[in-house]
Amino acid sequence: MNVTNTIRQLRSWSAVNKGPRRVFVPTMGALHQGHAALIHAAREIAGQSGNVIVSIFVNPTQFGPNEDFEKYPRTLVEDLAICRDHGADMIFAPKVDEIYPPDRSVQITETSLSKALCGATRPGHFEGVVTVVTKLFNLVQADDAVFGKKDYQQLAIITRLVRDLDFNVTLHGIDTVREDDGLAMSSRNRYLSAEERAQAPALRAALVSAREAWKKGESDPDALEKLIADHIKAHAPLGRIDYISAVDASNLQAISATTQLVVVAVAVFFGKARLIDNIELK
Ligand code: PAJ
Repeated sequence: MNVTNTIRQLRSWSAVNKGPRRVFVPTMGALHQGHAALIHAAREIAGQSGNVIVSIFVNPTQFGPNEDFEKYPRTLVEDLAICRDHGADMIFAPKVDEIYPPDRSVQITETSLSKALCGATRPGHFEGVVTVVTKLFNLVQADDAVFGKKDYQQLAIITRLVRDLDFNVTLHGIDTVREDDGLAMSSRNRYLSAEERAQAPALRAALVSAREAWKKGESDPDALEKLIADHIKAHAPLGRIDYISAVDASNLQAISATTQLVVVAVAVFFGKARLIDNIELK
């Protein structure tokens, strides 16, 4: 496995390692089993003669002024071990000034999907995500890229980015990897106190109970959202609900007569940590 923090070395490695398929996994590090599943999937897509590139970059432009950029966990040594164990070939772990010139003046804005859900409470967040993913796609020149469905809105927005700006990359969405009690794995789970950690699985349980209600015929989004809110309030009193939203999975807008798949997404604050999860109703 190779590791570099420079664009120059990434490019010279890429010039030599032209396997039949190059598969890219963008991350911000603090890797856990969810990321490991993405790297593993990338290895399978690449095959033995292809190449798997993982980026580790805590992207400052996707953090709001009062968010956790400075405190975001940085665990490079452990991250590299996880990458190696799951079959990555190249790790690109640049410093901020390698990625962003101080006088940079171009960014990418997605103007529709990023208004909903997390976009409403994290202004500028998806601009930062879309811009850095564009830059990483240009640098890595992959045939395929792997993203987690845990960040459902992010994957939907990147899908639009690829379609609307004609990136020649195939996207793969990977199911959310969970702890045994259902809590979605997240780098931010380590911010939880023991008490908050004990209550956090209520997010998943609430989403599952909404899916049960939906299977029994409840299709009113307001009723589903209320059921989830009540469950979270009852089982996770330390949680502060940011949003609960049942939307059309294709455009993250209100459910309509043409909706084929509904996704219910939630975001809940526990102290400093903001946890997200979602479930597709099918
Ligand atoms: P990060 O939060 O590190 O996540 C990297 C990738 O891992 C994302 O595609 C995310 O959806 C996926 N992931 C996280 N937790 C997961 C879980 N429990 N199960 C499955 N997949 C999971 O998302 C980002 O970084 C950044 O926004 C990035 C795309 C790298 C741009 O900076």
